[in-house]
Amino acid sequence: MTAPPDDAGSGGGSATGLTTGELLREGGDRLRDSGSETARLDAELLLGHAVGVGRTAIVAHPEAPVGVDAARAYRAALARRAAGEPVAYIRGLKEFNGLAFFVDRRVLIPRPETERLVELGLAEVMRRLGSRTVVGDPMRIADVGTGSGAIAVALAAGLRHRNALDAVTILATDRSPDALDVAKDNAVSHAVADRIAFAVADLVPDDAGVFDVILANLPYVRSDAMAGLPRATSFEPAPALDGGADGLAVIGRLVDRLPTLLGTDGVALLEIGADQGEAIVMLVASRLPVWSCSVEPDLAGLPRVARVAPT
Ligand SMILES: C[S@@+](CC[C@H](N)C(=O)[O-])C[C@H]1O[C@@H](n2cnc3c(N)ncnc32)[C@H](O)[C@@H]1O
Repeated sequence: MTAPPDDAGSGGGSATGLTTGELLREGGDRLRDSGSETARLDAELLLGHAVGVGRTAIVAHPEAPVGVDAARAYRAALARRAAGEPVAYIRGLKEFNGLAFFVDRRVLIPRPETERLVELGLAEVMRRLGSRTVVGDPMRIADVGTGSGAIAVALAAGLRHRNALDAVTILATDRSPDALDVAKDNAVSHAVADRIAFAVADLVPDDAGVFDVILANLPYVRSDAMAGLPRATSFEPAPALDGGADGLAVIGRLVDRLPTLLGTDGVALLEIGADQGEAIVMLVASRLPVWSCSVEPDLAGLPRVARVAPT
């Protein structure tokens, strides 16, 4: 048998006599039986986590021996996954916008569709910076309901990549102090903590002042739909998801505050549910009659981000 390269690893401890291929089959079968629709992928990620290598090395070396400690950690992880816990919480890691975010049960696991909000936010900030004729005070950006810090940190990393991070300041808020602790850790990990201020607040602190760009992925699930969400979602904090009777209660309160939070040239980009496109346009029309509201689709073509601005 070909010796595995160093990076395939055995995960330490004495040999079990089992290989990665055998443990993957065992895990895939167990997770399939538990109802996972991504059983094989989950098993690969969890074995990689237990062994301490990437998924690619696991898949590439089915013949690699696995040590006792790693096999035990893997089986413990399988038990958690079989009980419904999301892989991201078990690994303590979620990829978002090409960056690795630490996550645990204090925060919502960032969703791929939120990458669209970051993309639109980056474009908005860069366009505004580009049209500035004089270099003035830093542009003020808020990420309301930051959770793991996914939006604020990904935006800051994107701006750094474009040599524009020094031209902005970002305020990241959350009602949950626990979530903000996670967000701060992620900002430090990605070396953007010096450009992001954090505040525990209901939406935005009263004395926060005026912003140029507000980004928010606030809860938007209807309360009566919470019980029907996938099992993995029950491990996430309910206040991160529950948007009240019509799903737009929290977002609506932010809309109400936009006239005092946004400058005359400001814009708010608000993530919404795929079935809330018409509802958000009606909500803005009724609460802010002279403002505009258009809805941007996500990569799947579904309504995803409301763009709200004074006219
Ligand atoms: C859907 S999660 C989004 C988290 C993160 N922005 C993301 O996109 O992954 C909503 C977040 O908003 C926070 N939140 C809910 N209500 C809030 C409020 N009234 N004020 C501030 N944050 C709030 C929750 O604690 C949670 O972290």
